[in-house]
Parts: sequence; C-alpha cells; structure tokens
Amino acid sequence: MTFEPNIHRPPKRPQKAVIPAAGSGTRLLPATKSQAKEMLLVGRKPVIQHIVEEIQEAGINKILIITNQKKRTLEDHLDPHLTHFSQLQDINDEIEFFYTRQSQPKGLADAISKAETFVNNEPFVVCLGDSIIQSKPTNNVLENLIDTYMINQANVSILFEEVEFESVVKYGIAAPEFEQGRTFSIADIVEKPSLEEAPSNLAVAARYVFSPEIFDYIRQTKPGRNNEIQITDSIHLALQNRDRIFGLKLDHGEKRFDIGNYRAYFEAFFRFSLADPELGAEFREYAKKMLEL
Ligand code: G1P
Repeated sequence: MTFEPNIHRPPKRPQKAVIPAAGSGTRLLPATKSQAKEMLLVGRKPVIQHIVEEIQEAGINKILIITNQKKRTLEDHLDPHLTHFSQLQDINDEIEFFYTRQSQPKGLADAISKAETFVNNEPFVVCLGDSIIQSKPTNNVLENLIDTYMINQANVSILFEEVEFESVVKYGIAAPEFEQGRTFSIADIVEKPSLEEAPSNLAVAARYVFSPEIFDYIRQTKPGRNNEIQITDSIHLALQNRDRIFGLKLDHGEKRFDIGNYRAYFEAFFRFSLADPELGAEFREYAKKMLEL
C-alpha cells in the first residue's frame, strides 16, 4: 500500500537538532555521581561527541543542547578552544552550538519544550543524549529518519528498535498500523507499558523528527509515567488529533547503544574498543586471550 500525502503542508527539511541532556543518570551511579552521563567514554570519545558527529553526518549544523546545573562539562568539551589538541576540529568548523537549561527534572517533553525559541517554527530533530546510533558505513540512520518524515509528509517520524519482549517495560512502545518495508504508520504509542499492555516489541530508539506543532501538544500533556511529562504522551495526543506519525525500524547492521544502563554501556564500550582504528586488532586478541582463561 502507499501512504496518502498530506497536501496541506509543503515539506521543509529539518536543519536544527536538539539534544536533551538534562537527565540525572541515576541508573549509572556511581559513575554519574559528579559527572554527566553524556561525558562517559565510549571508545575514545564521550557519548556527546558520538551524537554530535551523527547529527553532523546527517547534514545538520545547528545544535541546541538542553543541560542542567551538573552538565557544564558538555559545553567545555565542545568548546572550540580545546580543538587544537582533540579530534573536535571538524565539528566546530561547521557546527553552531546553543545551550539552554531544564532546571527541574519534569520529564522529556518538558525538556524538549525548552527548545521552542531555538526551533523558531521549523521542523527539527531530537537525539536523546544517552543513546548512540551506529549506522552502516554508507547509510546515516538519522538521515533516513528525516527522509521518512519528508517522503510521508509526516508530523512526526520516530526511530524504532525491535527489543526482547521482556524489555518493553523500559521504553516507549508503538502499535504499528500499515507497514511498507522498514517504515510503518503508527496507530498508537505508550510509555513503558506492562508486558500485558504492550502493543508490540517496537521500542522508541531515541531519535525523533518533529514538526513545530509538537509544542502545542506538549502544553496539553499531563504528567504520566513516573509523574513526568512524557513526550510519548504528547505524541499520543497528536495521534488522537489524526496527525501523521511514522516509524522507521533499524535495519540489520544498524544498532542503538543505550548508554542509560550498565549492561548496554559495557556492550557499547566493548564494541567501540574492538573497532578502534589503531588498537582494535590488538584489543581483539587481548579479549580472545581473556575469554580462554
Ligand atoms: C526515553 C523515552 C522512551 C524511549 C527511551 C529511549 O525513556 O521516554 O520512550 O524509548 O528514552 O532511550 P528514558 O530512557 O529516558 O526512561
């Protein structure tokens, strides 16, 4: 089947990205007691740098980072003055960084609402600050998600990962409707459902493209799961208003590393260390030897 285009709104390609990075990181204590989880190293770079590079590769060069009192090091790391002895030169030549704060932890939708002035009535991308998306060498996943938004003239497009069924309780979960390849229209979405409530095992994978109307839905969203204002609930309101919301599933060879818990963080560090251009081969031998013991 084909999806019917919404002829009322001419498509505009998003040119801005927002990284909410104001989460407290309690699932990663004690590592996050005095440092931002977005500054945890994965391979040679902190998580935030992996995400900024992903955004840059998708052709976006204006990035707003939503921080809080404990996240000053993010700004320091991305500061252009440091680049002559780091690998940040390329990033800073092209990218303009903006910062704003979410002082109270009131939920992801509340954090995203702080981007309204920056977004200035244009479509925009949201990349959660605790997930790295690994693309295939020639295919940037974020760019594919933007294409999904454009081609379907969507109001929102969201990246999804198929997770083990027991894990649905940790994520936003979609009820898919019509599927076409890896793209599907979304009938409903629910934040951290119980195993009985979960409509599928398709979990929101930390990347979204929104049209600016999302801010109106956020204003109407009441506190939900964990008494926080959840972006999943704002998207649910948009669906009730018959907005066009599409999902894109990660393909084979693409992966999401959720840096929000130790199991996934260890996996990410291990994988990126094995892929290190200089030390990867040596480290692989070391890992093999360790496992033989
Ligand atoms: C947030 C979102 C959730 C999404 C997840 C992806 O949850 O609320 O819908 O699936 O990120 O990482 P959090 O990890 O902040 O609890």
